[in-house]
Amino acid sequence: MRTLAVVGGGVIGLAVAWRAARAGWQVTLSDPAVASGASWVAGGMLAPLSEGWPGEDAVLDFGAAALARWPEFGAELTAVFGESVFVADATVTVAMDGADTADLRTIGEWVGERGHELGWLDRAGVRELEPMLARTVRAGLLSPTESAVDNRRVVEALRRAATTAGVEFRAESVDSLTALPHDRVVLAAGAHSARLWPRLPVRPVKGEILRLARRPGVTPPPTRVVRVRAHGRQLYLVPREDGIVVGATQYEAGFDTAVTVAGVRDLIADAEQVFPGIGEYELREASAGSRPGTPDNLPLIGALDERVVVAAGHGRNGMLTTPLTVDAVLSVLEGTTLPEARAADPYRFATANSASTTRPQTAGQTKIHGPSHFSSVGGIR
Ligand code: GLY
Repeated sequence: MRTLAVVGGGVIGLAVAWRAARAGWQVTLSDPAVASGASWVAGGMLAPLSEGWPGEDAVLDFGAAALARWPEFGAELTAVFGESVFVADATVTVAMDGADTADLRTIGEWVGERGHELGWLDRAGVRELEPMLARTVRAGLLSPTESAVDNRRVVEALRRAATTAGVEFRAESVDSLTALPHDRVVLAAGAHSARLWPRLPVRPVKGEILRLARRPGVTPPPTRVVRVRAHGRQLYLVPREDGIVVGATQYEAGFDTAVTVAGVRDLIADAEQVFPGIGEYELREASAGSRPGTPDNLPLIGALDERVVVAAGHGRNGMLTTPLTVDAVLSVLEGTTLPEARAADPYRFATANSASTTRPQTAGQTKIHGPSHFSSVGGIR
């Protein structure tokens, strides 16, 4: 039987391990603390269209191809979990001033030109859809296909599915990919992946997020995901059965995962502008994670050499892009390429004189990003 080591137990590693085991691989997944990183911290919104911007065509196409896989992928996870992993069916992005309104029109027109219909809402239209939002909301863009998931249900469902499929979990760090005895290796250690494959263009991008619980008698949460840009910051409210997730800050801070006072203050202040009832909620959890960022906001999915496949760098969209990533990784393991994932080629940053990004020429050579030592894959992914 072909053996596969999956390094990293976030949503990507878990999903790859599950599907590879189902496809006949003997799979070992190594992570000292499965699903404790970015996958656990995440909000679960699936919004590639609403987050689109002219010029970012490849990011939009990749995200849209992933979103199209979610109904089937989510249904499978729902069957495993026993309750729906979905928490919302649609997303509405709202504008608070004239500049935001103009931006929404730009996004709506551009995304429409690329074949994805978003609906324009005037002030009354937004109020009709989500009556609890602030009266100061001027306009909105309704995205009827952009659902959202409970990320913690998703990772729990994946863990169960992987266990049932026969994946062996090892609660340990991997120090070196070359030391792994397996036929193939999938490197899915999120923002930590560059420690095992130096110069892999992945860096941590910090995000803080809040989990609020609805108390008896308080204003009910919106039924859709609500997105807004406040003071130049992206904010989203993702409903949960018992409350709302409010995310997320975004800045470069290395692997710092401390929750700052300023981060919490900004999230609450921005959220209150669009959903004034939020002050009545219980602040249940504030957490921070390290998104695995890449230079062009597309992930890195593909063979690094004849043995190692990378699936990392999913940035803000790890949850969204999991079903497409899994299909792409399984294709690579079988020696084929998934057309929708071509833009995620890990060697796309290669230049003639860039030793750090040159694809290995010969089987067995790992000239540029040679595998290296790695003290821990724990912490945030
Ligand atoms: N998934 C959105 C974020 O990372 O903030």
